[in-house]
Amino acid sequence: MGAPSITAFFDEATNSVSYLVADPATREAAIIDPVLDFDAASGKVATRSADRVLSAAAAQSLRVEWVLETHVHADHLSAASLIRERTGAKVGIGSGIAAVQSVFGPLLGADDLHDGDFDRRFVDGDTLPLGELTIEVIATPGHTPACVSYKVDDAVFVGDTMFMPDYGTARTDFPGGNAGQLYRSIQRILSLPRQTRLFMCHDYKAPGREEFAWETTVGEQLDRNVHIGNGKPEAAFVEMRQGRDATLNVPRLLYPAIQVNIRGGRLPPAEADGSRFLKIPLSEA
Ligand SMILES: [Fe+2]
Repeated sequence: MGAPSITAFFDEATNSVSYLVADPATREAAIIDPVLDFDAASGKVATRSADRVLSAAAAQSLRVEWVLETHVHADHLSAASLIRERTGAKVGIGSGIAAVQSVFGPLLGADDLHDGDFDRRFVDGDTLPLGELTIEVIATPGHTPACVSYKVDDAVFVGDTMFMPDYGTARTDFPGGNAGQLYRSIQRILSLPRQTRLFMCHDYKAPGREEFAWETTVGEQLDRNVHIGNGKPEAAFVEMRQGRDATLNVPRLLYPAIQVNIRGGRLPPAEADGSRFLKIPLSEA
């Protein structure tokens, strides 16, 4: 069985990385975590980022079979629905999506959620074909309950579990997040062979690093990750993670992103005149 071809697309506006993953033998492809461009100030939605991935797929004569979400992103809108419309690909996410929808659906007035927003809800150990390759689903909750990682041959797309070794790990203070659970999810990934390639979902550059980066290995994470490297025990990690989470701001696009992403990247339904609106729940400071 061959290795997948992997193309990364970095969105500087949201520090997110999308991936085009293909089986070179059959030209079947998956797009992982595609971004729908959104400007919160103007309300403008654009498809530049998704078009870039789809153009690359077309240039390589790929058939996009899957759109795979590693989780419900809180920092960018998903282009999953758009890519499904354009290509006929099936959209998949972890089965924990139900827990995320049940918290955020009522909060954001999203009473139009329906089963068809996602074609597949994966559980740990599920496998999906990608031509002659196999995509394995590894449940990696902790950042959110719906977090999964996708393993294809020696490559794992880790979503928001770990970041690059010099930056650490994902926050665990969203509803359903859990630092101990994240630690155990990360250990599962790090129990893979040291040379396993790991592909991040985000990069913010660490202090002292000039370039964005998104690919590392299990070995590098074990040796150098600033939050979990060098055999950091769970209790010490949880204390560090919770302390750091208490200092973090709410992500800039939290409400816009979540209300689109719990719909699988579908925009909220149009009003009678065709206009669409996002909701921001108000609360007392
Ligand atoms: Fe995230």
